[in-house]
Amino acid sequence: MERIITVSNLNYSYPDGTTALSDVSFDVHEGETLVIIGANGTGKSTLFMNLMGILKGDGRIEIMGLTLNKTNMNGIRRMMGLVFQNHDDHLFCPTVYFF
Ligand SMILES: Nc1ncnc2c1ncn2[C@@H]1O[C@H](COP(=O)(O)OP(=O)(O)OP(=O)(O)O)[C@@H](O)[C@H]1O
Ligand SMILES: [Mg+2]
Repeated sequence: MERIITVSNLNYSYPDGTTALSDVSFDVHEGETLVIIGANGTGKSTLFMNLMGILKGDGRIEIMGLTLNKTNMNGIRRMMGLVFQNHDDHLFCPTVYFF
């Protein structure tokens, strides 16, 4: 089956030096359902933010055959989305415009 997501040797440390991801590698194939579970602070959100290009670690991320980089970012974000853990974080505008 086609590979939808490939993560190879992904490492990420926050600016304060906290290592959140250490040598993470996995594939997700078409039709597969993958659940990522782990205790608080084990790096789940950090991983997803790397998959969306919000955070940039070392390693290789490929989405639908496209390597995640500045050039491919917009195309990838049309195919894949991230719902934030805290729903209030989605409200980035103080007002709503009706038309
Ligand atoms: N902005 C930040 N600056 C420094 N360290 C951070 C930052 N955000 C997260 N961390 C640290 O990175 C590690 C991974 O955190 P992350 O939020 O990715 O975990 P998580 O698995 O999503 O946790 P939770 O289940 O609580 O949502 C933890 O040690 C956390 O304290
Ligand atoms: Mg989280």
